[in-house]
Amino acid sequence: MTTPFLEAKQIGVWYRSGSQVVNALRSVNLTINEGDFVCLVGPSGCGKTTLLHLIAGFLQPSKGDVLLKGRRIGGPGSDRAVVMQHPTLMPWMTVYQNVEIGPRTRGVSVPERRETVEHYLKLVGLSEFAQRHPYELSGGMQQRVAVARALANDSQVVLMDEPFGALDALTRETMQLELLRIWSLTGKTIIFVTHDVEEAVACGTRVIVMTPRPGRIVMDRPVEFSRSLLTDKRSMTSLRAVKSTSAFVAVREELMGSILGSADPPSPLASGVH
Ligand SMILES: Nc1ncnc2c1ncn2[C@@H]1O[C@H](COP(=O)(O)OP(=O)(O)OP(=O)(O)O)[C@@H](O)[C@H]1O
Ligand SMILES: [Mg+2]
Repeated sequence: MTTPFLEAKQIGVWYRSGSQVVNALRSVNLTINEGDFVCLVGPSGCGKTTLLHLIAGFLQPSKGDVLLKGRRIGGPGSDRAVVMQHPTLMPWMTVYQNVEIGPRTRGVSVPERRETVEHYLKLVGLSEFAQRHPYELSGGMQQRVAVARALANDSQVVLMDEPFGALDALTRETMQLELLRIWSLTGKTIIFVTHDVEEAVACGTRVIVMTPRPGRIVMDRPVEFSRSLLTDKRSMTSLRAVKSTSAFVAVREELMGSILGSADPPSPLASGVH
């Protein structure tokens, strides 16, 4: 039997907050294959960020294990890069220097570093902005720098926590297409948290739905629109067209139903309370 690429086994997370204990995740089991684009959706507070932080190694599970290629994740590592909701760029550094942080920290030689930074800046369409500072860029451009910085880390896994949440609808859709293109070109494994089910269905190869706290996985559904979007013209028009097909709408509604179903409080009649 081959070792799974990424595996969460019987994960439980309890947070201690003063005298209170919060059960954030319960019995979470998950296997992710290399090259997957996994989208995590679910109501606010269901533990999506917690699960991402376990994989990033920022947090250890209270119960169970998270394994990357069969090895327990004991802390953060250069094999995993994280993109947060707001681009956490160093304001005093240029775009180039921000993207260079990872390779510089790893002691990569100056010529190799230049090649890496230029490659990823080109990939996100920001070559001409290399010498600018973050304050000179729009929110979408800053987030593209954050994506380039994550990719330049030479990581196999890119963890993204609502990376497009703060962007306007148009920029957000442009970023969805760009991310799909980058994913197909780099072959990296992406784990992507979003509140937007439509975004998850458009971008993911799998969509995972979590229940309200304590978070559990209630649905793990393969989706295949990202592949057709990549073979298509990859334009905004084709993205809009795919999102309005009946096949797309049916999957979106199925997932919405699963989220709403798991979020509904139990009916008083069903629980015997009158
Ligand atoms: N450091 C912490 N200390 C105590 N409780 C925490 C901590 N971090 C998260 N929690 C609690 O754990 C639960 C899960 O939080 P988490 O941030 O993982 O949810 P989420 O699904 O990412 O929510 P959102 O969609 O709002 O970002 C929440 O009830 C939250 O209040
Ligand atoms: Mg969160």
